[in-house]
Amino acid sequence: MELEQIIQNAADRLQEAGAAGASIGLILGSGLGAYAETLDNKRYVDYASIEGFPVSAVVGHKSRFVVGEKFGKTVVVMQGRFHYYEGYPQQMLSLGVRVMKRIGVENLLITNAAGGVNYPAGTLMLISDHINLSGSNPLIGRNLDSFGPRFPDLSNVYDKALRAKAKALAAADGISLAEGVYLMMAGPCYETPAEIRMARALGADAVGMSTVPEAITAAHCGIKVVGISLITNAAAGVLDQPLSHAEVTETANRAAAEFARLVDRFVSDLF
Ligand code: HPA
Repeated sequence: MELEQIIQNAADRLQEAGAAGASIGLILGSGLGAYAETLDNKRYVDYASIEGFPVSAVVGHKSRFVVGEKFGKTVVVMQGRFHYYEGYPQQMLSLGVRVMKRIGVENLLITNAAGGVNYPAGTLMLISDHINLSGSNPLIGRNLDSFGPRFPDLSNVYDKALRAKAKALAAADGISLAEGVYLMMAGPCYETPAEIRMARALGADAVGMSTVPEAITAAHCGIKVVGISLITNAAAGVLDQPLSHAEVTETANRAAAEFARLVDRFVSDLF
């Protein structure tokens, strides 16, 4: 099925679920999906019910859109995202963002769990920029001209003005919010200590396996992006201990309340 058709199928389903008028999109990362439950008047659209739409099978990820209201605003949430390491070409990872564009979303908050290169576990990090070492790009293939240009500018993917405002809002609420560069690796294995030394040398503060394809897709179609990484673990080799997905979800669960407070503030006042 053509990408445009899948996007249309999903947009139709979301419109039926009352997503018209939504200007805020939210993509919730590993262990952070519970925030969607805090929306009022929730409507669910399972990815599996949308013809042609991929489904995520990762533990800690649901696989559905949630439409709901928060602070009087309509919000569309991807509760569970797809990852490159699941075997999808990156253009399939772009679908959710393009669906959001079709229903009118102008601002997208992308969240993820990440390994800390320069920050300890538990840190909330505003993404200032990214480095794409995934080895691919969601815009490879025929350009969808109705979404954006063949060669999009990426000099302000994580909108500078929104970042300044985000930091001020977090500070006013007493939420400590670091800032830094997110580096994407393809995964699914965690990095080697040598790769983390490389990431640090390249200027990365956090490493993960998501976010970059979605952020690129949003930049392509003119959606403003704010990114938050929850540092769930010290990256490989930083501490003398192995990494595990259980550690990632445990830290995410522990930070869930603080994370929800920050996202609430952004939904209510940032956009
Ligand atoms: N590396 C890559 N992705 C991750 C990590 C990590 O250390 N932690 C959570 N997601």
